Amino acid sequence: MIKLTLNGAARQFDGDPEMPLLWFVRDIADLSGTKFGCGAGLCGACTVHIDGAAARSCVTPMSAVAGKKVTTIEGLSPTGDHPVQKAWMQVNVPQCGYCQSGQIMQAVALLKQKAKPNDADIDSAMQGNICRCGTYQRIREAIKIAAGVKA
Ligand code: FES
Ligand code: FES
Repeated sequence: MIKLTLNGAARQFDGDPEMPLLWFVRDIADLSGTKFGCGAGLCGACTVHIDGAAARSCVTPMSAVAGKKVTTIEGLSPTGDHPVQKAWMQVNVPQCGYCQSGQIMQAVALLKQKAKPNDADIDSAMQGNICRCGTYQRIREAIKIAAGVKA
């Protein structure tokens, strides 16, 4: 039996401990904001937080989250108004939107580690999050707004 906290609620799982966390989030917890992209840790669409750090849920087995706190895009803010989400809306970052929950989760984790990131910090933190629509400039702008380093 694996016990974890998902978006602040206690959960348990008694299936295959090698099952990816992404399947638990989407298919068992019915939280569809976290997306499946590559399934191989290469695109960032499935990014969640594990104990506050960004992690690729497609390559994280359930066994790795025993006793951990997992947060998905739905858990960032009950009303969708986390400062990073507000900055995303201000700049109208998304195009198709598919990659964006992963982008936001990665950005939130960056700002937890570095409250005032520069361009190099942003590039380094976000390089593993792929956007096929090419919204990278707006992502960078929104991160700066959320960080208060750009009006
Ligand atoms: S779906 Fe997990 S990194 Fe691409
Ligand atoms: S907004 Fe379409 S993939 Fe990023």
